[in-house]
Amino acid sequence: MAAIAQNPMERRHKILVVDDEVVIRELLVDILSDEGFEVQSAPNGRVALEKLRADGDLVAIFTDIMMPEMDGITLIREARKVAPSVVCIVMTGYATLDTARAAVKEGAYDYVLKPFNLSEIKLAVNNALERRRLTTENARLLEITELFHISETIASIRDERRLLDYLLRAALARVGAKRGSIMTVSDDGRTLRVASSIGLPEDWQDATVDMANSISGWVAENVRPLLVTDIHENPDIVRISKRLKDHSFISVPLERKSAPIGDPGVREASRPQVLAVLNVTEKERGGQFTEGDLKTLSIVANHGAAALENVRLLKDIEDAQREIVFTLGEIVETRSRETGNHVKRVAEYSKLLSRKSGLAIEEAEIIRLASPLHDVGKVGIPDAILNKPGKLTPEEFDVIKTHTTIGYDMLKVAKGRVLQSAAIIALHHHERFDGGGYPHGRRGKDIHIYGRITGIADVFDALGVERVYKPAWELDRILGYFREERGKQFDPDLTDVFFANLEEILAIRDAFPEAEEGRHRG
Ligand code: C2E
Ligand code: SIN
Ligand code: SIN
Ligand code: FE
Ligand code: FE
Repeated sequence: MAAIAQNPMERRHKILVVDDEVVIRELLVDILSDEGFEVQSAPNGRVALEKLRADGDLVAIFTDIMMPEMDGITLIREARKVAPSVVCIVMTGYATLDTARAAVKEGAYDYVLKPFNLSEIKLAVNNALERRRLTTENARLLEITELFHISETIASIRDERRLLDYLLRAALARVGAKRGSIMTVSDDGRTLRVASSIGLPEDWQDATVDMANSISGWVAENVRPLLVTDIHENPDIVRISKRLKDHSFISVPLERKSAPIGDPGVREASRPQVLAVLNVTEKERGGQFTEGDLKTLSIVANHGAAALENVRLLKDIEDAQREIVFTLGEIVETRSRETGNHVKRVAEYSKLLSRKSGLAIEEAEIIRLASPLHDVGKVGIPDAILNKPGKLTPEEFDVIKTHTTIGYDMLKVAKGRVLQSAAIIALHHHERFDGGGYPHGRRGKDIHIYGRITGIADVFDALGVERVYKPAWELDRILGYFREERGKQFDPDLTDVFFANLEEILAIRDAFPEAEEGRHRG
């Protein structure tokens, strides 16, 4: 495929001279050519505009004011639409000096008076180019600031889908494109999936394509960006991608940054080097993508790749943490002869109550992850007490009560929101709303909301199942108990939330039933 982005060579500045008088036109062409510029000329505004449209490299226009077909003022106005960075200089006689000043108001950079001498022309054009250089630098600075903002934002996104959606939107906005996609490379490196898209048919979302049959696949396999200004000049691409109707597009790879872990000889070596491919097409106003666009997208892709890797790494860690948390919770429940599904149900009840009582989804999720550890301190309770098949003596119950502080002490040193929240839950889940709970006898809203929530979830579940010291309660009895304890043992508002969402609570209970035979639900 021959359509690789080429290095723009240092070229001479191109200037356009517009005048209906042949003599003046040719004089200016000579002067500016001698100065080392590449000069084109046009007899009026209309022709000049055509040349401007055809040649994006023109940096300055010298134009007369009074000309047939299209005058200089109109030309300047139109030129600024076609090529905003082009610098216009007006040539004028004394008779039209006011008009020239008006032209400057229209956006002309300067005017020179006819008849002009050589040094005036040189000065005007050098000033104009200097000004253009500054303007371009400002634009570049602005661009960099924008890119910095994008980079900052993506570093704070923790969900892969949201990251890719933001990245794509930002990329399209930066280069003025209307369609695009981010395709992620599968683990085995054989296929690509449309992970995010804008302006594409909806059923393309999540569609997969073969590496071998797609442009993104070519970019991923060759680890090279692709800038095509006119697809019809690239028959290979037309062959690969019959769907592409647009003439111009850019595809850039999001390259993996991290070194392979483990033995580089085995397996890891086949880990695909490209994580994803960013595609943009349909430049606004039917334009073509430029080298500058490619550079911009390469920067976006570069930062995007780092963020994508981070997000995936974090997710791995969180998955591992989640597993550890559940395993720990299950171990505790197993020791106290409870089943694993107890912690799962408590987790889901807690999340539901969190959401329905108005906590944010992120917080509810943290409570879901943390609540299974509420009884982790039971690992410090002697077996003879924990699994005693009957009623506890007050002394034994005092020992049991320490499971709250033991759990808190175990968890409080851990880093991360989930384990910190778990520490709070361990400490607060046996406090009572009326102040009669343990370990501290906190009252009302002094009990942490996580503790109040998990407390309700825990007791609801504990009552419904058989324990060594008690049979399972019937549902009606449990609900009666909750009505009775509203505002005493339990937060009254949360108790209301509990009753208002009873149907969903029971659906959770049915979804995670007690596995072993001989255990009954209430
Ligand atoms: P658990 O079995 O997970 O019970 C959690 C909470 O559910 C209890 O906290 C209590 O608020 C409620 N609950 C459970 N069963 C009953 C019940 O039959 N009646 C009432 N009114 N509430 C019930 P609590 O009471 O602070 O107990 C904490 C932990 O101490 C229990 O966790 C359990 O492991 C242990 N435990 C409590 N009472 C006894 C007992 O009589 N014998 C034994 N062997 N262990 C007990
Ligand atoms: C893309 O895949 O996002 C660009 C190509 C197309 O529009 O078909
Ligand atoms: C792609 O290869 O990036 C998808 C574009 C297409 O095949 O139309
Ligand atoms: Fe407990
Ligand atoms: Fe429990």
